[in-house]
Amino acid sequence: EKEITIAIDGWSSCGKSTLAKALAKELNYVYVDSGAMYRGVTLYAKRKGLISEDGVDERAIIDELSNIDLSFSNNENGVAELSLNGENVENQIRSIEVSNVVSAVAKIKEVRQFLVKQQRKMGNNGGVVMDGRDIGSVVFPNAELKLFVTADPEIRAQRRFDELQAKGDNVSLEEVKANLKLRDEMDASREESPLIQTEDAVVLDNSNLTPKQQLEKSLLLVEERK
Ligand code: C5P
Repeated sequence: EKEITIAIDGWSSCGKSTLAKALAKELNYVYVDSGAMYRGVTLYAKRKGLISEDGVDERAIIDELSNIDLSFSNNENGVAELSLNGENVENQIRSIEVSNVVSAVAKIKEVRQFLVKQQRKMGNNGGVVMDGRDIGSVVFPNAELKLFVTADPEIRAQRRFDELQAKGDNVSLEEVKANLKLRDEMDASREESPLIQTEDAVVLDNSNLTPKQQLEKSLLLVEERK
């Protein structure tokens, strides 16, 4: 059986990573969370003081890229977590503070080149599920299966809010909503590899699907393409 490449793109908090993780587990493929990598660079830049009220010091971030080492390793439940220069930063990269500035970092061309190169290396032998914003359009334009995931904005905000609450993060539903709206706008309108739905992508609206139903639908598509 052939191992294929699965590219999953879509709006913020629409269930991409839930689907990608479930597919990877079911198929025994490698899962790569490309968004975590943009978050990792953002966290590094924040710690270095390169992001402030005045904005993002793009030049300084570009100069720091060679000092940023990102890697994934599985936790005890087999879930991949991000390390930044050897430190597990899985929790820090999900905070609202990082979420609020990550799209401003992700629009920097050199940051994208730096990460896309690593992403291609992780997936160049097939048997990979990667989720993000430019996976089907830029990272793996030849992926056998491209999914474009979407869901009603209200439902997305509520899901992310529930997730953050469960982690004990004290953030309001309004704040989450505003963050998703901001990121969607920035990600879709940027000059460098904006979020687009490629012509060959299959649209999956999961507003009224359970994670299990969403997985089953996707597995049928995988079978067709193997
Ligand atoms: O997927 P996640 O929501 O964690 O991604 C965080 C941010 O990283 C996105 O809002 C987007 O700005 C950026 N991103 C990107 N390209 C990707 C993945 C994420 O620009 N492939």
